[in-house]
Amino acid sequence: MIFVTGDTHGDFTRFSTHSFPEQRQLTKDDYVIVCGDFGIWDGSKQEQYWLDWLNDKPFTNLFVDGNHSNFDLLGQLPVGDWRGGNVHVIRDSVLHLMRGQVFVLAGKRIFTMGGASSHDIDDGILEPGDPDFKRRRRQLEKRRAHYRINHISWWREELPSDEDYETARRNLDACGWKVDWIVSHCCPSGMVDIVGGERYGRDRLTDFFEEIRERCDFDYWFFGHYHGNRVLMQRYILLYEQILQADPPK
Ligand SMILES: [Fe+2]
Repeated sequence: MIFVTGDTHGDFTRFSTHSFPEQRQLTKDDYVIVCGDFGIWDGSKQEQYWLDWLNDKPFTNLFVDGNHSNFDLLGQLPVGDWRGGNVHVIRDSVLHLMRGQVFVLAGKRIFTMGGASSHDIDDGILEPGDPDFKRRRRQLEKRRAHYRINHISWWREELPSDEDYETARRNLDACGWKVDWIVSHCCPSGMVDIVGGERYGRDRLTDFFEEIRERCDFDYWFFGHYHGNRVLMQRYILLYEQILQADPPK
């Protein structure tokens, strides 16, 4: 079985047996995919505790990256080849599905591409090395500004690199732009216009997804980021805290 859910932001309580009783019948050959903003954040002891807790669950936990992901930590992890695509191995059964990959899981061909633009940075990105850093941070805190700190709470890599786009195109070419599902954090530009409201806009990644939407043959597109649970046009599935079985028995 494959389940999909939205942003967890390091809070994995939705995977408790109480909230997710279906896990009683799952094994490590069953999968739960998080559509970005999973919770690789500060490498703290608390974070390590929860990753161990997840690893002990009776299913395999998979995620794409989001905008709130620590790309310095992810970038240090070993890259493995798993079910046809590249993963960062966080724990034996906690894996980061990297960008532009095509995996085959339980007979489903799944294209993955994390990343998104942060929308909570209107007041800027502070550089920790800036001699004026403390004063500027104090001022921003005082007026409850929307700011982030480079390499602490914001990473340039939140949006894919040219190489990521090339990888995506190469892997989609290799499968004839035909997959069963797409899993991402943000969504195609045309869908952003519907779910994004005033807070979220289009960018290079959502435009790339718009191209994929037009060119690619797929059944379902699962995404997170916009903090809602909604189905659009019967196949674009925005998830937040809901856990959905993506391959229900017919
Ligand atoms: Fe996000």
